Amino acid sequence: MFIANQNFSRLPESYLFSEVARRIREFKGANPESEVIRMDIGDVSLPLPECVVEAMRRAAAEMGESATFHGYGPEQGYDFLREAVARTDYNDRGIPTISPDDIFISDGAKSDLANLGDIFGTDVRPAVVTPAYPVYIDSNVLAGRGGMPENGLWSGISFLTAGPESGFLPSLPADGVRADVIYLCYPNNPTGTVLPAEELRKWVEYALAHKSLIIYDSAYEAYITTPGIPHSIYEVPGAEKCAIEVRSFSKTAGFTGVRCGYTVVPRSLDFTFADGTKADLNRMWCRRQCTKFNGVGYVVQRAAESLYSPEGRKAISRNVAYYMKNAALLRSTLLGLGAEVVGGVDAPYVWFRPQSDLDSWQLFERLLHRGAISSTPGVGFGKVGDGWLRLTGFNTDALTAEACSRLSGISDIF
Ligand code: MLT
Repeated sequence: MFIANQNFSRLPESYLFSEVARRIREFKGANPESEVIRMDIGDVSLPLPECVVEAMRRAAAEMGESATFHGYGPEQGYDFLREAVARTDYNDRGIPTISPDDIFISDGAKSDLANLGDIFGTDVRPAVVTPAYPVYIDSNVLAGRGGMPENGLWSGISFLTAGPESGFLPSLPADGVRADVIYLCYPNNPTGTVLPAEELRKWVEYALAHKSLIIYDSAYEAYITTPGIPHSIYEVPGAEKCAIEVRSFSKTAGFTGVRCGYTVVPRSLDFTFADGTKADLNRMWCRRQCTKFNGVGYVVQRAAESLYSPEGRKAISRNVAYYMKNAALLRSTLLGLGAEVVGGVDAPYVWFRPQSDLDSWQLFERLLHRGAISSTPGVGFGKVGDGWLRLTGFNTDALTAEACSRLSGISDIF
C-alpha cells in the first residue's frame, strides 16, 4: 500500500511566494485597472548582460554542430566554470583553501539548500536563525526532521531568534539547545542585515567546538557595501572544516530565469558517520548529485562563465549599483514615513515595521489595496517576523520611484 508523505500535511497549504502571488492575482482579478508594482519576491528586472547573451549564442551554436556538441556534462559542473569560481570568488579574494574540486555547479541556490538534507544523518537537529528564507524549514519538515508544528515553530527544529531586540544579530545556541546543522544567511534574507567578521567568527568557533555543520547561504554577498563585512564564510579560518557555502548568479546577473549557482563543499570538512568513521561530505555530495542530478546545461554554464570576464564583472557591478539605488530610495522613504527600517545598505531587501498594530498579512493587504504595491509579509519568514514587511530593490528604478510616491500617499498606514 502506498502511503503519502505525511509531512506535506503539516506544512502550510502553499509556499510563501506562491501564496503572495495568489493574493496578487486575486486582487488584480477584482481590480483589473490597477497596476500593481511587484516588490514581493526577489525577482530581478534588468535583462541579461550582453556578455551573457553572447556566450549563450556561441554555446548554442556549438551545440548545433556535431564537432562541438555536448551531451551529458559532468554532474559537478564543467571544469571551466568550477575553475573560474574557485579562482575569482575565493583565491583572488584571499581564500586559498577553496579549489575547483570543492565547487559544485547547481541550478540555483534554492534547490541545493533544500537538497543538502540528503547528506544529513537521520537524527540531526537543524537550527535556523529566524526570520529565515522558508526553504530551510520547509525542506527539513518534508524530510521528517521538523517534528510537529507548535505555535508557529517546529518541535524538531531549534529556532535562534534574530529580532529587533538584538539588532537582528543572532545569538549562539544557548547551553542545552542542539544545533547540529545551522543555517546562516548573510546578507540576510529577509532582513537585509549583515554579520560582522567578529560575529561570524563566533559561529565558526561554535561549529568547530560542537561538531556542527554550518550551511552558509551567501546568495546576496555581492550587495555588501560596508567595508570589512565578510563576503564568504571561508574568510574565517577553520570554516573550511565546518561550513558549506551556497551562492547564486540569480540576483547579480539576472539568472532567476536561467538557473545557475554553485555550492562549495570543501574536501577539508571534518565530520563522521554515526559509527564514528570519517564521512567525506564532498564525496557524499558528489555521489548524491551523480544519482539525482544530471548537471546544469552547457549553454547555461558558458553563460555563467562569461560573468568572470572583465565585461561580466562590470555588468554585475552595474546591476548591483542599480538595485542598491532602489533599495536606498525605499529605505529613506520608509524612514521618512516613520517606520522602523533595517536592510537596504548591504542587501537589496528592506525590512520594515510601520508603527501599527496590524499583523503582516493585514499590512500586506493594506499596501496592496491602498497603494497597489505587493510586499512580502514578514510572518512568512517566521513568527518573529509578524508585524514586519519586506520590500525588494529589484524592480526598475522608475517603478521603485513610483512605489515610493505611492507609499508617501498612504502615509496614514505608518
Ligand atoms: C526571495 O524573494 O526571497 C527570493 O527571491 C526567493 C528565492 O530566491 O527563491
